[in-house]
Amino acid sequence: MGNKLIVGNWKMNGTLADNATLLAGLLNGLAADHPARVAVCAPAVYLQQLQSLLQGTPVAWGAQDVSSHERGAYTGEVSAAMLRDLACRYVIVGHSERRQYHGESDELVATKAQRALACGVTPIVCVGETLAQREAGQTDMVVKRQLASVIHTVGHCTSELVVAYEPVWAIGTGQTATPEMAQAVHAVLRAQIAAATSNSARVAILYGGSMNAANAAALLAQPDIDGGLIGGASLKAPDFLSIVGAAGAVH
Ligand code: PGA
Repeated sequence: MGNKLIVGNWKMNGTLADNATLLAGLLNGLAADHPARVAVCAPAVYLQQLQSLLQGTPVAWGAQDVSSHERGAYTGEVSAAMLRDLACRYVIVGHSERRQYHGESDELVATKAQRALACGVTPIVCVGETLAQREAGQTDMVVKRQLASVIHTVGHCTSELVVAYEPVWAIGTGQTATPEMAQAVHAVLRAQIAAATSNSARVAILYGGSMNAANAAALLAQPDIDGGLIGGASLKAPDFLSIVGAAGAVH
């Protein structure tokens, strides 16, 4: 795996003015030679703003969801081709908030990943167990099932994926998986990807769930943690920059 990948997930936050301030802070604070790869995923309405403010900078941009349909009569949906039109490098698919609040199934998430790949947009496929599933000893089974659906659908394009392990109980709660807990699941996912593609080394596996300036270094030092998907801490430039700095330091 090459440089660490740090992705901000702004979720449903931001205004034109706040985004401009946040991105200016980010661009000003990024060391010219920082070795990490950096991206931010914003609400769809702000992607054009990201394109105009981030084009030509070291920060890539992406969306938080994509339609499973190609085009047509799907009111309110945004297609992968539209994301490509706005030069999105990434799109998050299967975030637990979409699985939970919008009833997204493993099959739907897999189709979304496939649509993104077909348009040259890299899907960041989120997997993760709930607290009840962890306590029932089902963590490995759940994340493997979620990822298997995507691998089955995208086939030989598996090597083009980014995967994010986000334990549901750690998202937005301040309760982080310990580096050892996260590493154990990442190793399971790494083995699953290796069984599916000979090019598994290029698949980044990110950790997400209350990653912050204080805990990032220890998580990113784990051998199978290739980066982070950052929610809350991506909304403050100094916090996000500290995580990017930690990613650079363990490179
Ligand atoms: P958090 O969110 O960092 O606020 O826990 C992570 C995510 O949901 O992607």
